[in-house]
Amino acid sequence: MTVEEKVKELREKKEKAKLGGGIPRIEKQHKQGKYTARERIEKLLDDGSFVELDAFALHECTDFGMEKKRILGDGVITGYGKIDGRLVYIFSQDFTVFGGSLGWKFAEKVVKIMDLAMRNGAPVIGLNDSGGARIQEGVVSLGGYAEIFFRNVMASGVIPQISAVMGPCAGGAVYSPAMTDFILMVKGTSHMFITGPEVIKTVTKEEVTFEELGGAMTHNTKSGVAHFACEDEMDCIRMTKKLLSYMPQNNLENPPYVDTGDDPNRMDPELVNIVPDDPNKPYDIKDVILRVVDNGEFMEVHPFWAQNIVVGFGRLDGHSIGVVGNQPKHLAGTLDINSSRKGGRFVRFCDAFNIPLLTFVDVPGFLPGTTQEYGGIITNGSKLLYAYCEATVPKITVITRKAYGGAYDVMCSKHIRADINFAWPTSEIAVMGPDGAVNIIFRKEIEKAEDPKKKRQELVSEYRKKFANPYIAAEKGYVDDVIEPQETRPKVINALHTLLNKREPRPSKKHGNIPL
Ligand code: HXC
Repeated sequence: MTVEEKVKELREKKEKAKLGGGIPRIEKQHKQGKYTARERIEKLLDDGSFVELDAFALHECTDFGMEKKRILGDGVITGYGKIDGRLVYIFSQDFTVFGGSLGWKFAEKVVKIMDLAMRNGAPVIGLNDSGGARIQEGVVSLGGYAEIFFRNVMASGVIPQISAVMGPCAGGAVYSPAMTDFILMVKGTSHMFITGPEVIKTVTKEEVTFEELGGAMTHNTKSGVAHFACEDEMDCIRMTKKLLSYMPQNNLENPPYVDTGDDPNRMDPELVNIVPDDPNKPYDIKDVILRVVDNGEFMEVHPFWAQNIVVGFGRLDGHSIGVVGNQPKHLAGTLDINSSRKGGRFVRFCDAFNIPLLTFVDVPGFLPGTTQEYGGIITNGSKLLYAYCEATVPKITVITRKAYGGAYDVMCSKHIRADINFAWPTSEIAVMGPDGAVNIIFRKEIEKAEDPKKKRQELVSEYRKKFANPYIAAEKGYVDDVIEPQETRPKVINALHTLLNKREPRPSKKHGNIPL
């Protein structure tokens, strides 16, 4: 063979590898509204930046006639490339090859990508579309999964890991995405579950469809497993890129600075009109967030789950920040099991990747009830508390209205090492709200009074005057300043600038024991 012939052979092999499981299977994929594994990579990465590795990989399985079915690449496309000019490692499961199922060679390819990403300090993106463990390969495919799981854990908090679920993701296979930082699911075409509808029917007699059991909206509204629900695959690709834009490449870097062009001294007089005069009336904390962050751009994480807390990414004077806010519009902004889990995980992500935290507080307390108590609000509620205590990134807090009871402590109070705490004049900072407090401490006086209702009202009003304001906390230095709502943006940006070089040493330890 001449050199030219050898080059021709190479090209032909590469072209063959590009076809994966063949044209009929590619057409089937398209008919289902899905792109192929390779098309997804092309759409996600900067044009021409993809460098493929192991395109010639072949499995070595000889059981069940598998020796006759060897397809170049073995069902997963792996490599590296750039998103907005920044290096990322990527693997994309190819459903057209053995249903994207994972065998040993497949796992080796993914593992190689993860190891490279760790060594070179760049994010890993996994595009999932797979029937799970390759049944013909038996236990070695389970071993392959476990090699990936182990690396997910080693990489956690070192490099960002993002999972886009664009097809099935079932059985133990779900644990790899679950241990990454963010899961995006595509509406209608993606499913995640541990056991499928058939097994459930046999074991529990429940009848449930794929969509109800593990579709995008199920995991975005009910379980909280997924962080984003995407309209289609292009939406998923767009969201993945946007999400990455807020993150550093690894835990030793700061997030990228973006010149947003928004004036850091911009005041917003409308902010004074958001908190209603009546303390029991709800409002939308997102109206506050959008008016404070650069250009009103806020990427909400978990927008459909545990809506009594809002978390997401924004920028302040070009610096990435993580925003956490109680949401008075849902469950009066109380903290419950799910909101504490949601907030806690988000705070830990931000802390791991040097993303400062801005917290807006309007919390009447923890949600009462047996469902909460039996569900372990004690353990779960402490997750958010633990996460805030542990976080050493810059922490800025703004109390907009209520900060009552234990929830005051939890929501990034000064005592758990917030750096700068502001309160609006509408703040009410106390052990509990006026009604509850008066019922407890003045029960006897109210009972004895000639007109108990009037007496009660008087006492509530006295209590409100004394405690339902920010000034006692300000007297004690628990809030650093009481600010006008319109000044919030300049004040928090100014605070952030002072905190950009913050260093806060903590005792060395193997790891803490977060109440899981
Ligand atoms: C080998 C598989 C496969 C698998 C699918 N295929 N899953 N091959 N191992 N796990 C093959 C099919 O045989 C078929 O090959 C091709 O992929 C496409 O599959 P279809 O069934 O035709 O596709 P569709 O109708 O779209 O259904 C997709 C599916 C279904 C819902 C994913 O294939 C399915 O239920 N697969 C099994 C899922 C599963 O139970 N996996 C094990 C989970 S447990 P041909 O040649 O006919 O086109 C697990 C444990 C992980 O993964 C543990 C980690 C610790």
